[in-house]
Amino acid sequence: ELSAEERAFQEAIDADIKVEPRDWMPAAYRKTLTRQIAQHAHSEVVGMLPEGNWISRAPSLKRKCVLLAKVQDEAGHAQYLYGAVETLGASRDALYEDMLAGRMKYSSIFNYPTLSWADIGTIGWLVDGAAIINQIPLCRCSYGPYARAMVRICKEESFHQRQGFDIMVSLCKGTPAQKQMAQDALNRWWWPAVMMFGPPDGESVHSAQSAAWKIKLFSNDELRQKFIDQTVPQARHLGLTIPDADLAFDAASGHWRIGAIDWSEFYRVIKGEGPCNVERLAARNKAWDEGAWVREAALAHAAKRAKRSIG
Ligand code: 3HC
Repeated sequence: ELSAEERAFQEAIDADIKVEPRDWMPAAYRKTLTRQIAQHAHSEVVGMLPEGNWISRAPSLKRKCVLLAKVQDEAGHAQYLYGAVETLGASRDALYEDMLAGRMKYSSIFNYPTLSWADIGTIGWLVDGAAIINQIPLCRCSYGPYARAMVRICKEESFHQRQGFDIMVSLCKGTPAQKQMAQDALNRWWWPAVMMFGPPDGESVHSAQSAAWKIKLFSNDELRQKFIDQTVPQARHLGLTIPDADLAFDAASGHWRIGAIDWSEFYRVIKGEGPCNVERLAARNKAWDEGAWVREAALAHAAKRAKRSIG
């Protein structure tokens, strides 16, 4: 039985009234948003690692500058999102320490290695492509600060996807070896990108409540299907083969049907047993420890300035 406050809250959600930080909200709404926004931010921070791996090895100055700009954008996305989660009363440092200790998640997709330059193109094309499909609806989610953070992030993500696809076009128009490199990257990134949208709706823990609170406007499977329908024609345009022998167009529904997804891989990866989980967390813990002096210096400087301005 809902309390009067919970009933009023749900009526506001149903009327598409944005929830703002100072509004009353159910503890569970605050909790699930803190979880989702923090893990979204953690994804942006960890996501810089696989891409950063190729900044010093980009094939041209232009590609290096574009990749640098993209990685910088990801850092900025994390800042917007940590800022949004702080409006829920959460401590940014505590949430970050939870990620460093493996107590909070980040997107499964960043636990795979970037083995060639084609991986950078494939990440832009598929991973940022998937992120856009997942993030556009979030611009209209019920929590104001999250929705507004997503508007800016989505604008930058579209550049990320374009530059990735542009890399794939260059490789696929290049030498046979370059085209094979692009095909090899697609072979390794296709299924992890499909899994990025989360478990199937029937196994999704949070979907029903997140949908009722208009945090999740489309289900995991709906967004996954949108990604598949968008990506198959792009792969064919590139002359690349989607690594799925069961891929078939279903004329009746107008959708592309894929083969079975190996959910045991997904659950293994989000449990911390993916190809790069240990390496990613070790890199993030090392950076946190080595950056302690910068944080202390910045805080000392801010304290001195505050004292001067009062004095
Ligand atoms: N990676 C890691 N964990 C995942 C996951 C994934 N791809 N998909 C689902 N999970 C986790 C959920 O977090 C949840 O675990 P938790 O209770 O410990 O948080 C569990 O699996 C059950 O999944 P649900 O579907 O019930 O969970 P959600 O309702 O939260 O849906 C989601 C998962 C669709 C990822 C949703 O959280 C979401 O939309 N998050 C915001 C978007 C986001 O985080 N995107 C990250 C992509 S990377 C990125 O954007 C960087 C860009 O620059 C490429």
